[in-house]
Amino acid sequence: MRSKAIGAALLGVGAIALTLSFTGLGSAQDGSNTNSSTSAAEIERYRKMIDDPMANPGFLNVDRGEALWSEARGEKNVSLETCDLGEGPGVLDGAYAKLPRYFKDADQVMDLEQRLLWCMEKVQAFDTKGIRAKPFSGPGRGSDMEDLVAFIANKSSGMKIEAPLAHPKEKELYEIGEALFFRRSAVMDFSCATCHGAANKRIRTTDLPQFDVPNKSAQASMGSWPTYRVSQSATRTMQHRLWDCYRQMRMPAPGYGSEAVTAITLYLNKNAEGGELKVPSIKR
Ligand code: HEC
Repeated sequence: MRSKAIGAALLGVGAIALTLSFTGLGSAQDGSNTNSSTSAAEIERYRKMIDDPMANPGFLNVDRGEALWSEARGEKNVSLETCDLGEGPGVLDGAYAKLPRYFKDADQVMDLEQRLLWCMEKVQAFDTKGIRAKPFSGPGRGSDMEDLVAFIANKSSGMKIEAPLAHPKEKELYEIGEALFFRRSAVMDFSCATCHGAANKRIRTTDLPQFDVPNKSAQASMGSWPTYRVSQSATRTMQHRLWDCYRQMRMPAPGYGSEAVTAITLYLNKNAEGGELKVPSIKR
């Protein structure tokens, strides 16, 4: 595990890099609001500047998650180290690359966050009520889930996303995810496909990844979560991203660890299959 001193140094380097890059981005926008190719190039330059593990505070979550994974907790006072994430009890390497997947013991398809909650309850007899009520970190408040997901996902970094849909329940949930993706709803009458159903769409200077067919932008996107969001000073997971997109659609918040979020994640991963995981990443 990294020492606290290195952790502090990491944050310092991050702060310097970010100050520089915000300056770069600001001047680009001032002078070139009508020139989208310059803005896109500036955003790309900003991405490169922050894409440095030594300047990525997401690795502090990785370290905290590692400690949490082996900490004895819950009524049974045991660690999560016997939790089976799909590759066998305690096996972490490559597990995230194959999630969501079907778990026989739960008779359910689960994403990483659902599975972790399940293991906390079954393996540790840990009361997850508090986590379910406030799963995401906020000002002055960390998140066990963000730490654990960063740690476990990092063990699949460099591997490729797999979604073979070998089990009938996986196929079924994929189809539910597809239906949810195209379902228009709420006051804006948006579906996910409104924004993510064609190539090369943008909102202002932001390129929108396409998710309705297998393609490189879907691979790059899904290969980049969990990610440290500079704008939120927090490491965010796919549960948070989908919560945020539903919020933007003026939809009620989806339940944390709900089947619906897992269904959409499975659908997105299928169209991102073969994409390389580089996580935790860092982005705006
Ligand atoms: C009103 C437009 C809009 C709708 C509708 C929308 N999104 Fe998004 N989505 C965005 C924007 C904007 C981003 C941020 C892109 C960025 O920062 O690169 C985003 C980002 C994402 C990302 C992360 C992309 C990345 O590379 O980091 C995923 C995954 C995603 N959306 C999935 C969905 C899903 C699933 C739905 C439907 C439940 C949905 N979105 C609905 C606008 C939308």
